Amino acid sequence: MSGQRAIGVFDSGVGGLSVLKHIHRRLPHESLLYIADSQYMPYGCKPAAVVQDRCMALAAFLAERRCKAMVVACNTATAAAVAQLRAQYACPVIGMEPAVKPAVQYSRGKVVGVLATRGTAGSEKFNRLISRFSQQARLIVQPCPGLVERIEAGELAGEQTRMLLQSFLEPLMQQGVDALVLGCTHYPFISPLIRSIVGEDVAIIESGEAIARELERQLQRRHELSAHRRRGAVEFWSSGDRAGAAPLFGRLWGGPVALNRLAL
Ligand code: DGL
Repeated sequence: MSGQRAIGVFDSGVGGLSVLKHIHRRLPHESLLYIADSQYMPYGCKPAAVVQDRCMALAAFLAERRCKAMVVACNTATAAAVAQLRAQYACPVIGMEPAVKPAVQYSRGKVVGVLATRGTAGSEKFNRLISRFSQQARLIVQPCPGLVERIEAGELAGEQTRMLLQSFLEPLMQQGVDALVLGCTHYPFISPLIRSIVGEDVAIIESGEAIARELERQLQRRHELSAHRRRGAVEFWSSGDRAGAAPLFGRLWGGPVALNRLAL
């Protein structure tokens, strides 16, 4: 990687690429280092302690490579480990927050659906967020077990993914949801499928852009934004099967991806 210090971004797998894209678009001169912890994917059905251990190991790798900021591009990992990461590292540690606030503001009928993993849905951090807004709207949380695995398999539009998604979305539609929060960074990759099920009148809201803005704000405050004028390098690492994963990475990133092997 070039001389400048990179921003480290990680997720359990390819989901965080949906956030990485926003970061790269907003901060094109920054060098980025992305880790997919694919060997341990999915995080959403694992005990929080296991997810925490993985996050600490990935963060140690990023710190060793002198990353100037860390982005936990995973809602499940943020809920499990962001406090611990912030206690350990002095650099900015940006975590995900499901976009409940904008969804509540947008919703006319004040009925908002939130799609998330079981890990996020059961976490204290997430439930605090839900209680904060529960006076202003009816918030219906829908855990989506199995969905991340479909996306990791590259099944973004197939019949099985549609049927699984329908089983999660139909109860929400029946209850009059008019804003839907994507509370997992994998889900933006199936938003066309979600749209085809919920129709045009439901807002689909994700957090990637807001996270990129927050990252920019924090680096700006520290005078640590890149002074380079050329585009930053983007490096990809995976703890899983690289040969099998590279085509999906390329498809979701929108260009060829050379995956480095992360042995952690
Ligand atoms: N992408 C992660 C999130 O935002 C979860 C994926 C997983 O379950 O591994 O919650």
